[in-house]
Amino acid sequence: MPQRTHSSFDVAVVGGGIIGLSVAWRAQQRGLRTVVLERDAQLGRGATHAAAGMLAPVSEANIAERELLALGLESAARYPDFVAEVADAGGEDPGFLRCGTLVVARDRDEAEALDRERAMRATLGLEVERLLGSEARRREPALAPTLRLALDVPDDHAVDPRRLVVALAAALRAGGGEIRTGAPVERVETDGDRVTGVTLASAGGAGETIAADQVVVAAGAWTRLLGGLPDAARVPVRPVKGQILRLRDPAGPGLLTRVLRMDPGYIVPRGDGRYVLGATMEEQGFDTTVTAGGVFELLRDASELIPGIWELVIEEQEAGLRPGTPDNAPALGAGALRGLHWAAGHHRNGILLAPITAEILVASLTGAPPPDLSAPFTPARFTHTTKKEVAA
Ligand code: GLY
Repeated sequence: MPQRTHSSFDVAVVGGGIIGLSVAWRAQQRGLRTVVLERDAQLGRGATHAAAGMLAPVSEANIAERELLALGLESAARYPDFVAEVADAGGEDPGFLRCGTLVVARDRDEAEALDRERAMRATLGLEVERLLGSEARRREPALAPTLRLALDVPDDHAVDPRRLVVALAAALRAGGGEIRTGAPVERVETDGDRVTGVTLASAGGAGETIAADQVVVAAGAWTRLLGGLPDAARVPVRPVKGQILRLRDPAGPGLLTRVLRMDPGYIVPRGDGRYVLGATMEEQGFDTTVTAGGVFELLRDASELIPGIWELVIEEQEAGLRPGTPDNAPALGAGALRGLHWAAGHHRNGILLAPITAEILVASLTGAPPPDLSAPFTPARFTHTTKKEVAA
């Protein structure tokens, strides 16, 4: 029998990354007594730790993913207020940088593709400025003279996810929310067709059970390790590996002021002489090794655009695991058991989608009507069952 405790919460959030913390903070603000349970000894050590923090719905717009674009635009629009509110609530700077983005083309083929990309954005009502290489270099002088074409996307900014984690945790604690690290959730507890809480793993067998009326799964790529849920009630999430480098310019800031996106990859400035260079996309399960080939490809592609990159110091190399659902879009909102909610599977967009995810989840947790734009992201597209069928 699991050991019982006296802890009882309105909401238990499984996962202490950007998504889990954002949902928990908003839930606590609404008066729901909330606890975040993070498996690692520190918060935000999963995909959040590796993430570069691009807030780039326009740069990443894809005509085949209009619903995801709408979600991303809504979330990006909320970011300035979101980070200001987080900073006010907890007193920590979330590291939001109004930097804009350049999408660049290195050669003629890439330039033609970029013109098609611009036309596609125009059909979606997204205006971007077309820059010849010379004008792009005037704006970002570190760009290579061989650069052919660029699109200036002035409203695609960036945030430092590691700072945002610290700021969200401070905001949540200041509002009375609880955070437990080193608290791996082994299973979701259920009674018939409703959840009753979660049980933590412990070395010696069944661990502590934490009672909660509602459980939010925000466990990123580790979602699939969560026990206690019938298969029919599960959102399938797989890890998608991304190798990423953190670089520092010993000469200080100024090499690059905007986010730079190329095919493939990106360089994100932190505004203080540090840069994040990413990222590979690999289907390797839970492998987080950094390979010579991965690092070489990142540096090779980036150095063709920014030759000055060779002078930077490598401060960190890391591989993170993006959480991917079968359609690579997130599962947001109520699940197939009463009291079960999903904020999972954000794939490449977890940092961008944190504010809108929190809003959708708080609607779901409080029984308010979910925003219309969340309908395509219902977890039911994977579970396809009623609560009764799942519990049977
Ligand atoms: N958000 C960028 C990436 O996942 O690589």
